[in-house]
Amino acid sequence: MPITTCVFDAYGTLFDVTAAARQAASEPGRDTLAKQWPKLANDWRNKQLQYTWLRAITREHTDFWQVTKDGLDWALEASGLENDENLKERLLQLYWELAAYPEVPEMLKTLKSRGMNTAILSNGSPQMLQGAVDSAGISDVLDDTLSVESVGIFKPDNRVYDLVIKRFSCKPDQVLFVSSNGWDAAGASGFGFQTAWVNRANEPVDRLDHKPQHVLTNLTAIPDLIH
Ligand code: LAC
Repeated sequence: MPITTCVFDAYGTLFDVTAAARQAASEPGRDTLAKQWPKLANDWRNKQLQYTWLRAITREHTDFWQVTKDGLDWALEASGLENDENLKERLLQLYWELAAYPEVPEMLKTLKSRGMNTAILSNGSPQMLQGAVDSAGISDVLDDTLSVESVGIFKPDNRVYDLVIKRFSCKPDQVLFVSSNGWDAAGASGFGFQTAWVNRANEPVDRLDHKPQHVLTNLTAIPDLIH
C-alpha cells in the first residue's frame, strides 16, 4: 500500500545524541572530558539503551529521563568523572537541547509538502521530546510526537509501534518508520512497518529476524522513498 505516514525515532535519528558530550568537552575547564568525550558519549548511550531493554523485559518501567540519568552516572564513573557534579548537571542540561541533524528541517518540510503525516515515535518522555522539538524548531513540520509513556513500556515492544496505528488510523504497511537504531528498525519491520535504517556509522546490519527495507547514510533521501 502507498505510504501515508512517516514516523521517526528521536534520539540518534533526528537528534544527535553525541552533541551533549561534544559540546561540554569544548567548554573551558573540561580538559579531562576533552580527552575522552567520545568514550563517555558511547558508554552513556549504550547504558541508557541497555537499561530500556532490561526494564522492558523485567516489567520495571521508569521513564526515559531516569534511564538517561542512570546511564550517565555509569558512564561518568567508567571515565573517573563521577565526582564532577557540575559536569553531570551540564550534560543533562544539554540533553534537553540536542542539535537536530542539519538535513532534518528541510526533509520534514518536503514530506509535509507532499501531504505525508509526520510524527516522532520515541522512548523519550513527553517533556524531553518537547524540549528537543522546540530547540530544533521543527514543531511546525510534525503532526505529533508520540511517547512510550502512554503505554508504559520501551521499544521494541509492539504496543509502542501500535501507537502510530491508533493515532493515524492507518495500516502498518502504510507507515515508513525511520530509525538510526538497527534493533528499532528490526522491531518496526517485525511489526509490519516499512522501515529505513539510517546507518551513519557504517555499522553491520543487526543479526535479528527482521531486516530494514532501506539503508541510508543520512536522512536526505527519505522523501525519495515515498511513492
Ligand atoms: C528513541 C531512542 C531509541 O528515541 O533513540 O526512542
